[in-house]
Amino acid sequence: MADVGCDHGYLGIYLLQSGQASFVHASDLREMPIKRAMQNAAQYGVAEKMRFSRADGLTAVQAGTVDTVVCAGMGGDLIAQIVEAAPWLKQEGYTLILQPQSSGNDLRRYLGEAGFAITEERLVQDGRFLYAVMKVRYGGGKPLSPGRQYASDALLSSDDPLLLPYLSRIEHSLKKTVAGISKGITEEDRKKLAYYGAALEEISVLLQAIKTDERGQSHACRE
Ligand SMILES: C[S@@+](CC[C@H](N)C(=O)[O-])C[C@H]1O[C@@H](n2cnc3c(N)ncnc32)[C@H](O)[C@@H]1O
Repeated sequence: MADVGCDHGYLGIYLLQSGQASFVHASDLREMPIKRAMQNAAQYGVAEKMRFSRADGLTAVQAGTVDTVVCAGMGGDLIAQIVEAAPWLKQEGYTLILQPQSSGNDLRRYLGEAGFAITEERLVQDGRFLYAVMKVRYGGGKPLSPGRQYASDALLSSDDPLLLPYLSRIEHSLKKTVAGISKGITEEDRKKLAYYGAALEEISVLLQAIKTDERGQSHACRE
């Protein structure tokens, strides 16, 4: 696998140690993380199964040398740029694991428009933060509605226990965004309002349906 933006390199080290990967290409834009990742790999005895590159995105990774690419802990727009700059990913056989730190909607929009499909999506809680992790493959992707750019069909059908708090947070933040731009007068403001307003409406409907469903289920349990 390739770990783009590997920082400390712990993900690759763990996957090698646990036998889930046989080779890891760890790459990072900056020199310090690469040095640290090399030291950590040596310390944990997996350095000979790793390659290290100081590089922007996937520029140092050659097509066919990995079957899985991980981009974690970066903004969704940056992850989209990194994927788009590696056209070899646009063929079957590659699995992408993407974990945007922010702008997940921009990443999902890009993926859909570029033909990538989110085949699985799950949520992870770290302290008070919630993060989405997506499994993505090329093929079958299509442009997504504004709401689905915030919560994919894969996530909605996952039964993830964090789905309700996740959608509630998205609804809350979209309400604030819509309130903030609703007085805007420029053409750009109107476009943004249409986008965020549509996303808010979709998320609110989804949230309501889940809440109603949960109420129905707890009622059925009591009976
Ligand atoms: C917050 S860390 C995430 C580390 C690790 N992937 C994780 O999830 O724990 C982001 C890392 O991405 C690297 N980075 C930022 N832009 C990059 C790019 N264009 N190409 C490669 N790495 C990049 C940074 O140097 C940093 O080490």
